[in-house]
Amino acid sequence: MIISFILNGNNVECEVDKNERLIYTLRERFSIKSVKEGCGIGECGTCTVLIDNEPHYSCLTLSSKVNGCDVKTVEFLNANGELHPLQEAFIKEGAVQCGYCTPGMLLSAYSLLLKEKKPYITKIKEAISGNLCRCTGYKQIVEAIQKVEIYGILDNIPSVEKKIQPHSSKEEILKKLSEKKGLKIIAGGTDLLVKERKEEKTHDFIELWGLDELNVVKEENGKIIVGSTITHAELNRNETINKKAKSLALACGMIGSPQIRNMGTIGGNIINASPAADSIPPLLIHDALCVIESKNTKREVALEDFVVAPYKTSINEDELLTYIKITSLEGYREGYEKVAKRASLAIARLSIAYAIKEDKDVFQDIRISIGSCTPMPFRPKDVENFLKGKKRQEALIKEAVSMVLKGIVEKSGMRPSYKYKLPVLEGLLIKILRG
Ligand SMILES: Cc1cc2nc3c(=O)[nH]c(=O)nc-3n(C[C@H](O)[C@H](O)[C@H](O)COP(=O)(O)OP(=O)(O)OC[C@H]3O[C@@H](n4cnc5c(N)ncnc54)[C@H](O)[C@@H]3O)c2cc1C
Ligand code: FES
Ligand code: FES
Repeated sequence: MIISFILNGNNVECEVDKNERLIYTLRERFSIKSVKEGCGIGECGTCTVLIDNEPHYSCLTLSSKVNGCDVKTVEFLNANGELHPLQEAFIKEGAVQCGYCTPGMLLSAYSLLLKEKKPYITKIKEAISGNLCRCTGYKQIVEAIQKVEIYGILDNIPSVEKKIQPHSSKEEILKKLSEKKGLKIIAGGTDLLVKERKEEKTHDFIELWGLDELNVVKEENGKIIVGSTITHAELNRNETINKKAKSLALACGMIGSPQIRNMGTIGGNIINASPAADSIPPLLIHDALCVIESKNTKREVALEDFVVAPYKTSINEDELLTYIKITSLEGYREGYEKVAKRASLAIARLSIAYAIKEDKDVFQDIRISIGSCTPMPFRPKDVENFLKGKKRQEALIKEAVSMVLKGIVEKSGMRPSYKYKLPVLEGLLIKILRG
């Protein structure tokens, strides 16, 4: 297919193969060798590019996705022939050694600086958390980004002039799914393209990008409707979700890295149905209903019934997850705890989403969901009911927590990992219930 996009400020057009990845297009068709393949599976950041000024991994991006988009590689920074202040800062502050990670680091930093001229150190660390450096060390890199002003004036946010608006409709997708067997839906590609690469398989993809009608968060009849193609980054910053489904906003903000959050969608997270999926525990406490459509049918299934086994849902080949309907929990004390090996690019070893409504120390309503502990995330509803209407007391909390732990062992048997997980879960639940 022919794609047109803006590359480093210039309109370009090229023919790409089916399932061609952006890293290949940039390196082989445009000779941009600054975009490098380290891992090829979204874990190192050396292939980072900016799409519409947000960092993405080009190793997990199909080239067709950038049709009509603004793409920047590090060459954009010194397009006028002079080093950009950020590049000067990296050199002068000793933030470059072998240079392998540097283009990706610069782009992640540049994207942050477009949004915030003087970011806090925590924001800087967060912004580069999807880019690994194996020689310089992060201290100098963070310092270089902090000191960038010394090395020159940052340019203003460049206006993105899009020539083409990629567009398709839900009806078109459903028609294609009904007509052709074996089509594989691709949204962000962050699960699918990793799998495809590991299994050395190629799929006949049907792409969800440009499907504007699913890219929404709206409120209808007291429910929040979340479109399946909304990315984790969009949910993390969405005002309604932050106000009425805080645990979901927090969980989405802890997924992968900034690049993964800009690419991965909530629909893909649900359909992948990993026991460690971060969005599932918050969705369960919000009584999520999945809207599943095919050309001629439409059904709504509770998320807890939709995920039937680890990595398996009840979706059929001709069906599309279109929306997720969730209950608003405004006024609840809500949160998400994720225990993982590190803060970024690590899957949950244990996760808890919770929403608690209290009045004068009495539990009015309590919702807890636990992920990464049993084959599927679950809500201990017996314990929720046990606590409802009772006054918060230490003995009550201990009893409730021991009920949760006992329920888990009854469900899954005594797994080797429980030696670590159960005491951690106990500590977290006590902390949450104490408030
Ligand atoms: C480096 C890395 C780190 C990660 N870290 C985390 C993490 O911390 N937490 C976490 O939960 N996940 C993590 N993931 C997994 C992944 O990013 C998420 O599961 C993501 O939400 C998947 O969404 P996607 O849009 O990329 O799905 P895709 O890869 O496009 O699709 C995944 C599956 O869903 C199907 N699908 C997608 N959308 C629909 C739809 N609307 N209707 C029907 N079928 C659909 C596809 O056919 C495919 O089977 C990580 C992945 C990588 C590569
Ligand atoms: S090559 Fe490692 S993230 Fe893309
Ligand atoms: S400078 Fe060598 S990997 Fe970062």
